[in-house]
Amino acid sequence: TEIESGSVKWSSPSNIALVKYWGKRDNQIPENPSISFTLSDCKTITQVTYSKKSSSGLSFDVYFKGEKNEAFKPKIQTFFERIQIFVPFLKDYHFKIETSNTFPHSSGIASSASGMSALALCLMSIEQELSENYPKDFFNRKASFLARLGSGSACRSIEGELVVWGQNESTESSDLFGVRYSGEIHPNFKDYQDAILLVDKGEKQVSSTVGHKLMFGHPFAKERFSQAHHNLEKLKGVLASGDLETFIKIVESEALTLHAMMMTSMPYFILMKPNTLEIINRIWKYREENNSKICFTLDAGANVHVLFPKNEKSKVYDFIKSELVAYCQNGHYICDSVGEGAIKL
Ligand code: PMV
Repeated sequence: TEIESGSVKWSSPSNIALVKYWGKRDNQIPENPSISFTLSDCKTITQVTYSKKSSSGLSFDVYFKGEKNEAFKPKIQTFFERIQIFVPFLKDYHFKIETSNTFPHSSGIASSASGMSALALCLMSIEQELSENYPKDFFNRKASFLARLGSGSACRSIEGELVVWGQNESTESSDLFGVRYSGEIHPNFKDYQDAILLVDKGEKQVSSTVGHKLMFGHPFAKERFSQAHHNLEKLKGVLASGDLETFIKIVESEALTLHAMMMTSMPYFILMKPNTLEIINRIWKYREENNSKICFTLDAGANVHVLFPKNEKSKVYDFIKSELVAYCQNGHYICDSVGEGAIKL
């Protein structure tokens, strides 16, 4: 019996890379492996209602926070076109996609990772309702595979707490999907905290599509890609031993290298703002003076992710409130921590 209609709903988180993905080949294949912490509270919640139609072809509507949204359509159209050979039912149904984020929309926080992973998971649940009942492992891998085709880093948002994406020397992994990191994780990294300081909530100056392309013919590309492999290897040791000093060095160096790549590409960009640097310097001073294990990381923008172990939580938030908030746009920041991945609602 053909199913006429139905509805599925997922909540999927954002993630923050420790070793950064920057540079890709055709079909969203990363030039280097990356690893990220899955976040807990920065999430997209997406409901997809599907109904059988007689004509064949892609058909969908998007609602953002209850209102019909045209702005998201082109990206989803491209995504659907890319994945339809892997999701054959896509052309036989009309989809109503209703989505919202738990974080402010124009916060400069990329919603592509949480958004694309939530949508990919909904499609997988529909596939399951219509035909195949996959084992959980395969379900997650295919969801990650599809999410990757929407936005590379989205493939790291399906599971927690750490996810590796991209072929590398020693972990089980793939260029095609993210895999939950199965190595040993020291208790120091349990419930690791991420305070996201919103320095600039404007539109990104460089879209990540353009950004990744800047690595083509980049004078330092080869070195950078091999450095990412080394940093991932080193980080694995750190995750097992709990060596926070080395963790800090790898994570901060990765963030600055990402920005160095943008500063040394052609065309070149500076995505940090004066307040980004102000915050970084204050983090360094605080770490020095308080024997703290706080550190920062950055995405392709001006906002600062402040990472720290759970046992420093109250002290670090005092520090953020008394010193760093002044450098956030409208004093806005988001308190998050490492999470377990997407949830079916
Ligand atoms: O997933 P994309 O194509 O938006 O790329 C994002 C890349 C960074 O966020 C800058 C780094 C990363 O690994 O998440």
